[in-house]
Amino acid sequence: MTSPQTLSLPTQASPPEFALSDLRAHAIVGAEVVALPVLPAPDGPDNSVLLGPGADELGADLVVDLLAVLEMHEATGKVGEVTSYPVPQGAPHNEALRWVLLVGVGEQRPEDLRRAGAALGRAVAGRASVATSIASLTDEAGLEAFVVGLMLGSFQFHWRSEAPEKPPVGRVVLTGLPDADELAPALDRALAVGGAGWRARLLATVPSNLKSPEWLAEQARLAGAESGLEVTVWDEQRLVAEGFGGIVGVGQASATPPRLIRMDYAPVKAGRKTPTVVLVGKGITFDTGGLSIKPGEAMVNMKRDMSGGAVVIAVMAALAAVGCPVRVVGLVAAAENAVSGNSLRPSDVVRHYGGRTSEVTNTDAEGRLVMADALAYAVDTIEPDVIVDVATLTGAMKVALGQRTGGFFANNEALARIVDEAGAAAGEPVWRFPLAEAYEEKLASKVADADNAPGGPGAIIAALFLQHFVGSTPWAHLDLASVGDSPSEWHEWTTGPTGFGARLLLQWLRSEDPTGAIS
Ligand code: BES
Ligand code: MN
Ligand code: ZN
Repeated sequence: MTSPQTLSLPTQASPPEFALSDLRAHAIVGAEVVALPVLPAPDGPDNSVLLGPGADELGADLVVDLLAVLEMHEATGKVGEVTSYPVPQGAPHNEALRWVLLVGVGEQRPEDLRRAGAALGRAVAGRASVATSIASLTDEAGLEAFVVGLMLGSFQFHWRSEAPEKPPVGRVVLTGLPDADELAPALDRALAVGGAGWRARLLATVPSNLKSPEWLAEQARLAGAESGLEVTVWDEQRLVAEGFGGIVGVGQASATPPRLIRMDYAPVKAGRKTPTVVLVGKGITFDTGGLSIKPGEAMVNMKRDMSGGAVVIAVMAALAAVGCPVRVVGLVAAAENAVSGNSLRPSDVVRHYGGRTSEVTNTDAEGRLVMADALAYAVDTIEPDVIVDVATLTGAMKVALGQRTGGFFANNEALARIVDEAGAAAGEPVWRFPLAEAYEEKLASKVADADNAPGGPGAIIAALFLQHFVGSTPWAHLDLASVGDSPSEWHEWTTGPTGFGARLLLQWLRSEDPTGAIS
């Protein structure tokens, strides 16, 4: 029995709109806020600061020494520091102006600009518009980072009866950019990357009384339709018929049956030799643990156990906009790990796609069961050049890494380097773990090809379990259980889902030759 679907989400806040302008910030008519960068002065005494472009004109308009304002606040220019100066009566060139925000940009590396963007996004929440010269300090990479940070730092989700008081700022004008036209493609790419993070966070926030596997599939269809992707969805009968025993088994107790979602992207210039990447996401729409049930506190955030799947859907939808040059197939193994008379039992055996079997000694190790099917299907029918999977797979990752670094495994050195560098560049840092052969024997089961939960080391055992399904295909496994959820506001991470992985994957897939170094 499915529950009656009387549920629908209220309209959600959109990310801010962005525009590029060659004007100075003080000259943007209608901007409610002007935000200027504060830089640590390289040669000045300790803690002395400089103001960036647009400050002279604005200071003259307001007849105020903005540098003196900073000194009174003992501003240092460090990243994320925001000094507010009220302008109750507007300014000569811009009657609408109410606030000047002076935003620390530190060393102005892309990471600093991303964080400055996030700080500004928070500071202007609830405002109609902001004009800022911060992006004029830097190159395209810096501009993109600033825009992504501002978007993601503004992320919101709500299911209140009334709209939240402080929605994201409506409009952001990036000022002081004489070659605004040349920068338009960089802005579009940034909007695609930030939008992917936003979409992944949104999907991970939706509560599971709405977010069934079919609901997730519908989101994939909608995202695919927006961006011209082919989307195919396996329903439960087809999953049974084609032997997806892991997905079927994990999903069999739920009132909302499982789905396998496939999204296909091909670049405009694709030819016979265009390489293919497969992305596989864990799409557990709620993880109770099954009969090996989780304690209540451990279940609270398990609506986010589809974060890997959300990342895959969001990345797929952004590939065209970032100009990804390879074919990409996205797979999301979607199921609810529920409790009922029809639950998988500890000791049940499932047969995965392709025939390999697993003894289910712990029904809470469900992620690897559904991922195994999707990986085997990918290798068997798509023959990809590279597979990357994304899953909130093991609590052990959280113990090892805390909640600000993701973990990954790879069976290929070049791919490992790519994942590591893409994560660092995109602001989603990951740490590599070993596929330690020494623990392989622990996977042995008395009755099946493998035991799904033979004990620790938890994250490594899970990765070794999955490795059997990828054969010799170059493969990276991102275990993002550590970073799926942020316990606090932290730079561009808002409390709640992080969308972690979307920016890392797009950083890689937008590069000139994503698979060139991998063999
Ligand atoms: N979804 C969880 C992993 C998880 C834990 C994600 C905390 C995010 C935060 C996964 O399905 C799970 O329950 N893993 C078990 C595996 C164990 C039973 C072998 C775990 O890590 O405890
Ligand atoms: Mn589980
Ligand atoms: Zn899980």
